[in-house]
Amino acid sequence: MSDVSIKQILAAAGPITDLTVQGWVRTVRRGKGVAFMALNDGSCLDSLQIVVDLNRPGCESVADIGTGASLQVRGELVASPAEGQSWELQAESLLLVGASDSDYPLQKKQHSFEYLRTIAHLRPRANTFGAVFRIRSALSFAVHRFFHERGFLNLHSPIITASDCEGAGEMFRVTTLDDLQPPQLDGKIDYGKDFFGEETGLTVSGQLEGELFATAFKNIYTFGPTFRAENSNTSRHTAEFWMIEPEMAFCDLAGDCSLAEEFLRAMVTCALEECADDLRFFDQRIEKGLIERLQSLSTAQFATMTYTEAVAQLGKAKQTFDYPVVWGADLQSEHERYLTEQVVGGPLFVVDYPKEIKAFYMRRNDDGKTVAAMDLLVPRVGELIGGSQREERFDLLQNCMRENGIAEKSLEWYLDIRRWGSCPHAGFGLGFERLLMYLTGMENIRDVIPFPRTPGNAKF
Ligand code: 4AD
Ligand code: MG
Repeated sequence: MSDVSIKQILAAAGPITDLTVQGWVRTVRRGKGVAFMALNDGSCLDSLQIVVDLNRPGCESVADIGTGASLQVRGELVASPAEGQSWELQAESLLLVGASDSDYPLQKKQHSFEYLRTIAHLRPRANTFGAVFRIRSALSFAVHRFFHERGFLNLHSPIITASDCEGAGEMFRVTTLDDLQPPQLDGKIDYGKDFFGEETGLTVSGQLEGELFATAFKNIYTFGPTFRAENSNTSRHTAEFWMIEPEMAFCDLAGDCSLAEEFLRAMVTCALEECADDLRFFDQRIEKGLIERLQSLSTAQFATMTYTEAVAQLGKAKQTFDYPVVWGADLQSEHERYLTEQVVGGPLFVVDYPKEIKAFYMRRNDDGKTVAAMDLLVPRVGELIGGSQREERFDLLQNCMRENGIAEKSLEWYLDIRRWGSCPHAGFGLGFERLLMYLTGMENIRDVIPFPRTPGNAKF
């Protein structure tokens, strides 16, 4: 194995003799006695130009090399006379490691994203997806770095759980019961006989466990896969996505919003500083002006308005909406986008939502009607973050659970936290794929996750 990447080679300070590189052929051009190949190894957007003298012993096999083939080349790195690249590799020997043929689907330069989704096993080799998944990897590391630098404990919350945190009934079931003849009790499936002795599913959020850990470690975060069986075939929803959930003890809603703002700015800075080449590609090909938009975010004020103010703004709007706007109704994505794009023109926290449209655990405000919730809305994407201050008062939480039809027995452990050493605490959840959409300009969530899980689609 050669451990030098094409990214390192292209940044070389001077010529290098006896250099070995490996990668996949992006293009081959054959001329008189000479062939040019673009070799890419995923380390960066650019490929390394390989120049092959066809008469040179050891280089004859180039005749068999097609787009998509894997190759090992040894040669000399020299300054390139060609425009747009500083270096090229003059091949001295070529080893065709894995052949390719004319059926290889990525021959053409441009394919639609829809088509590329049908070949999700090969699309990482396309330029756009190379850039997407490099940014995804860099940002994933930056998430951990952000919290690590601030002393947050990383919690691995469970994937299999018996509690539907959001109470929206969107859990995928996990069971080992016989599918055709499950045991019955009183005309219903008897989950008491199931593997865990109760009904379980894949987690919709690590928040409840996060709260438990926050009351021991003060500041914690989770960053893991999250599952929702919501049948919404939109460009912003997937059944499996990755969520970042910090939870802070001795913190209120204002502190929660400040962390969200600091976090988003840090992610934007990371993308600008550490993924500059890939961002330039997105700026040119996907969303014109992307870099400028991101740069302006590093200094912009994030706006805040209450849900009640938001409803008033929507009521004054000149445009008509598909869904009516009335106090008490959930904001639809058309409303969210209008507020962040037209009213504010940047990130917007909407706070203090009616209690009826939010989850049971949110802290009741003194007005008796609203809860200390926040959603961060951003242009193009809509809701990027959902969070709240949590109800830390035992009696009030008990009431909220009753109002929401949640059996106390099933969440005794959650109430216990309010029994002993309760304290104000708050947190939020940020969908990692929505963040990537925001940072890259990609318009469909299916194109920023390696293998999207959506209704009817789990093939790869
Ligand atoms: O607003 P949500 O449902 O909030 C929670 O789950 C809280 N328990 C978070 C917390 O306070 N710890 O989801 C949080 C975020 C959304 O704002 C959105 O970015 C993302 O998760 N999200 C999804 N992303 C992709 N596909 C889906 N189906 C998503 N559902 C939520
Ligand atoms: Mg939400």
